[in-house]
Amino acid sequence: MLKSRRSLLSAIVMGLVAGAVAMPAFAADKKITLGFAQVGAESEWRAANTVSIKEAAKAAGIDLKFSDAQQKQENQIKAIRGYIAQKVDVISFAPVVTTGWDTVLKEAKAAKIPVVLTDRSVDTKDESLYVAMIASDFTEEGRKAGKWLLENYKTPGDVNIVELQGTVGSAPAIERKKGFEEVIKADPRFKITRSQTGDFTRAKGKEVMEAFLKADANINVLYAHNDDMAIGAIQAIEAAGKKPGKDIIVIGVDAVKGAFEAMMAGKMNVSIECNPQLGPQLMEVVKDIVAGKPVPRRIITKEGVFPMETAAKEFPNRKY
Ligand code: AHR
Repeated sequence: MLKSRRSLLSAIVMGLVAGAVAMPAFAADKKITLGFAQVGAESEWRAANTVSIKEAAKAAGIDLKFSDAQQKQENQIKAIRGYIAQKVDVISFAPVVTTGWDTVLKEAKAAKIPVVLTDRSVDTKDESLYVAMIASDFTEEGRKAGKWLLENYKTPGDVNIVELQGTVGSAPAIERKKGFEEVIKADPRFKITRSQTGDFTRAKGKEVMEAFLKADANINVLYAHNDDMAIGAIQAIEAAGKKPGKDIIVIGVDAVKGAFEAMMAGKMNVSIECNPQLGPQLMEVVKDIVAGKPVPRRIITKEGVFPMETAAKEFPNRKY
């Protein structure tokens, strides 16, 4: 009797928390089941993010159902539908692209399963389709990259920048580009002369940089939307007989260990941090939602900037 009253109270409060998502009653002794639809395994960042989600779920005693969409939206939608069919308690996913989610999110809402976005945002007019979002501020990361460049590039004359964008249509690709452009437009010396997607992978980063180098002898700066593409591009720069970090300034995003190794070798100039360790925060939010506690709509992760001069000192402290 007591248990069912508590459950009813929880259900009412959760209804408030989750907006239009009316939550079913939840028995206090039942193990929480979380369905997580991951983007893929495209980068060092993603691998660290997956480890963080899995370890945090285990530590929190949450039953995790995990799927890898191999960077394909249709696979993520399929995985989310599978979680709805399995009647999981909460669904979380890192949307590969921003658009095209309303239908499946409406299905989750109709099934009264709250959705928490992690890492990347969705583009929707219906705010009730998800309860919370735990993610970095990608526009700010782009701004940090731009600010570092403006403050540190001292050679006079025009500065030709080539850009390796992330996955087309993904929140980090759109927002890192926007933030960077917003800052560099303050100085007309700085121009993006070539820009193409490298899909956040080393292999694509290398391939696209090879094409840039073949087409253009006058590249001063590479701005890569993640470290993996920067590391791939470094290989292409060396193969073209140039010195990455000197002949071409290399800027990456994520601050993964691979970037620190490249910086310590003098081949990369700066990495803007993007923290993949979202697992503990996600599990807290999941537990709060299920317990009917209010959760913040937007949780932004704190991040720094690591220029090459700081790499050796910081490297031993890096967790990913
Ligand atoms: O969404 C975060 C981005 O996705 C990371 O910066 C990138 O490395 C990953 O693939």
